[in-house]
Amino acid sequence: MTQLALSGLDLLATAVILVDEKDVLRHMNPAAENLLELSSSHTVGQSLTDIFADHELLAGAVRYARQNNCSFSEHDLAIAVSGRSRIHLTCTVTPIDASSAFEMNCCLVEFRKIEQQLRIAREERVHDQSVANRELMRNLAHEIKNPLGGIRGAAQLLDRELETPALHEYTQVIMKETDRLHALMSRLLSPHRIPRPTSLNIHEVLERVRSVLLAEFHKEIHIKRDYDVSLPMLYGDSEQLIQATLNVARNAAQALAEAQTEGACITLKTRAARQVTLARKRFRHAIEVCITDNGPGIPAEMSERVFYPLVSGRDAGSGLGLTIAQNFVSQHNGTITFESAPGKTCFTLLLPVSKPPQADNSAVPA
Ligand SMILES: Nc1ncnc2c1ncn2[C@@H]1O[C@H](COP(=O)(O)OP(=O)(O)OP(=O)(O)O)[C@@H](O)[C@H]1O
Ligand SMILES: [Mg+2]
Repeated sequence: MTQLALSGLDLLATAVILVDEKDVLRHMNPAAENLLELSSSHTVGQSLTDIFADHELLAGAVRYARQNNCSFSEHDLAIAVSGRSRIHLTCTVTPIDASSAFEMNCCLVEFRKIEQQLRIAREERVHDQSVANRELMRNLAHEIKNPLGGIRGAAQLLDRELETPALHEYTQVIMKETDRLHALMSRLLSPHRIPRPTSLNIHEVLERVRSVLLAEFHKEIHIKRDYDVSLPMLYGDSEQLIQATLNVARNAAQALAEAQTEGACITLKTRAARQVTLARKRFRHAIEVCITDNGPGIPAEMSERVFYPLVSGRDAGSGLGLTIAQNFVSQHNGTITFESAPGKTCFTLLLPVSKPPQADNSAVPA
């Protein structure tokens, strides 16, 4: 086997092993060592039967791929390695012949943890749901907003014509409520302006959020910063990202203030993330932003629905902050998730670091 081809496998983030015609393990890359908790120096040269206690499904998949000379995937493979607890994996076996870079007839077996697949499936579902929500909200908001102008105008005319002063109270209610609905619908429609992406520093976004919160909540809340200053620039719409992070951080500040939490603290943290799959695309680099508070947490009965429009746990809340934040983040191909328990709530935004589109240099002479 050529060393070059094997070192190529070692660079992969996917767990990969090579099995020869006699079901003997010929190579195990570092990602597979990690996933299977095995050392390649101890296992290379041994047969699958000796390495894996439940080897039937795996050996069957290898046999099928070899006999039919085609790729074969086994979707739920439970493997117990040398007496340890079972892990659930999907595996894809691809037969390779001697004319390949590996210079031998063998099978390449890729393993993926099922949780990782479930996470990707869940994110895809959330992404689809958020696209559908966005469309529904936009259509609904348009339909509601249009007649509001007419209703308000008619109430205003009526107000002028009314001779009994006590009746003005009713026309005032109509006008005030239509204004409130109008403002709500404008907020619902706000995520639909076309993004204006530029190259930006995520810490400038967070500093803006920090100064707005400090102005709003004065000394009630301490805001800690834990920034990774080596992060690359992002390509995105800074107004949208400020709005998204502000909506999340403001919720944290409001929850802390409402609960009068002692030692109320919000932490803004940034980190680099590598090789992430977001919105069905794979990105080499992403930026992780965590907004954590030590407040009362999100009530369990609400946690499945917090990103839905008009879901609010506050008397004065309109329930749009997180919907808008999710819309903005997904327009950046990112994801927003949270974990919450009394005393610690953490919202995590994952934003891919994508390059700006290449400038078109093929200038056409005037
Ligand atoms: N960090 C948090 N701690 C506790 N509860 C939270 C937190 N973040 C969100 N929530 C809950 O989730 C609900 C939904 O938040 P969202 O921002 O969508 O709407 P809102 O804050 O009620 O209204 P709006 O932001 O539109 O003014 C909040 O009302 C609150 O009950
Ligand atoms: Mg809010």
